[in-house]
Formats: sequence, C-alpha cells, structure tokens
Amino acid sequence: MKGKSTIEEYHEYRDKTGKRTEIYRIVAKRYGIASALYPGSHIDITPSLVIPKVIYIDNFKGAINFFKNMEMIKKYIAKNKAYEKTCDIVFMGQDYMEELDVDPVDLIISQYAGFVGQATKNYLHTGGILLCNDSHGDATLSRFDDDFEFIGAIGKSNRIIDTKLDEYFVLPRSENVDLVKVREKMKGPKYKLTAENYLFRKIK
Ligand SMILES: C[S@@+](CC[C@H](N)C(=O)[O-])C[C@H]1O[C@@H](n2cnc3c(N)ncnc32)[C@H](O)[C@@H]1O
Repeated sequence: MKGKSTIEEYHEYRDKTGKRTEIYRIVAKRYGIASALYPGSHIDITPSLVIPKVIYIDNFKGAINFFKNMEMIKKYIAKNKAYEKTCDIVFMGQDYMEELDVDPVDLIISQYAGFVGQATKNYLHTGGILLCNDSHGDATLSRFDDDFEFIGAIGKSNRIIDTKLDEYFVLPRSENVDLVKVREKMKGPKYKLTAENYLFRKIK
C-alpha cells in the first residue's frame, strides 16, 4: 500500500491540532512580521502560508523525516501562500536549547514545546514578538520576564485583545505565581482569566 504523502501528513496533523492559519495571519498582519523562528514546530508548517521566511526547529525523528521532503513542502506553500514574495523555509533538526545559527527574527512561535521563549529570545529582534501559549508555562515565564512586555491575548475568536491585560496571569485569591514550580512542573498555573495564546514584545 502507498504511504501517506508529506502534504497528507501535514493535513492530517493540521486537522488534529486545529487550523492555526488565522492566528498566524492576524499576528503577522498586526505586527508586520516578515520572518519567524518556530522551535519545537513538529510538522506545523502553517506559518509559512502567511509569513515569507520561517525557520523551523525540531529534533524529533518524525519531524526530521517530514522536512526531508522540502521541495514538496515549498511547492505546496508556493501554491497556497497569502503573500507575493517567494517562500523561504529552513528546517533545523536539532535541539533548540543548543546554539542556533540564525539571524534575529521578527517573531518567535512557541506552541506546546517547552520554554521556547526563554531558550530562544536572543534570536528575537528587540521590538520583536513572542507568540506563545501557557500549556507548558512558557507564557507565564515570559509574563514575569523583564525582557518582555505583555501586549496581547488571543482567544477562541482569533482576535487580538489588548485591553484589561492586567486581568490575565492572576491567580485566585491573588496569590503570587511560583515560577520555580512552573519550571519544575512545566505547566502553566490555573489563572482566573486565560486565553489560548499570549503576545509579548521583546523590550531589551
Ligand atoms: C507537542 S509537540 C508540538 C508541536 C507544534 N508546536 C504544535 O503545536 O503543533 C512538541 C514538539 O516540540 C519538539 N521539541 C520539544 N523540545 C525540543 C527541543 N529541546 N529541541 C527541539 N525540539 C523540541 C518535540 O520534538 C515535538 O515535536
């Protein structure tokens, strides 16, 4: 029997994880993003549909095999992309905690892959954007990191919310957030108000 094609594999993954094109699109549009770094991307190539240059990093064998079919991936993106420029897609099959041979980017994407923002913020331009969720506590660490300013939240409706931000990252009874515990457990705390994704600007 014929195996799954690279694009079928991506479509299956996309259907399982939920379509994220709209999230990446609104972030790219709002902040004029031309380049992004996506550590722990697995095979989520959706950012390339709306961002001309994306560097994907993952050290999982399945992801490394997927990106071996780069020509097919580029052809698919070229056919479906929402921008004029030629797509520039790079894959690095390595641990994102190690030193990376990349120039600073406009956006870092952190989705369910550990403390990506903390590990890779040096590769983000000052003024650049970190898009992350709090599944593993990466948003929490960014919220309490002086290198970042919390500038927005994105909920289910895929709109950027930039008002009343002080209501996020607040624990019941206003307890202090225990960052040591977040790092140990690799899990975001249960806040009073949460969002699917959070946006931070690198300010240093
Ligand atoms: C749960 S998956 C999420 C994938 C993708 N971000 C998404 O949301 O669809 C986590 C991915 O991060 C990768 N990952 C975790 N830690 C990593 C590290 N230190 N270096 C490279 N990849 C890593 C794993 O191999 C895996 O593919």
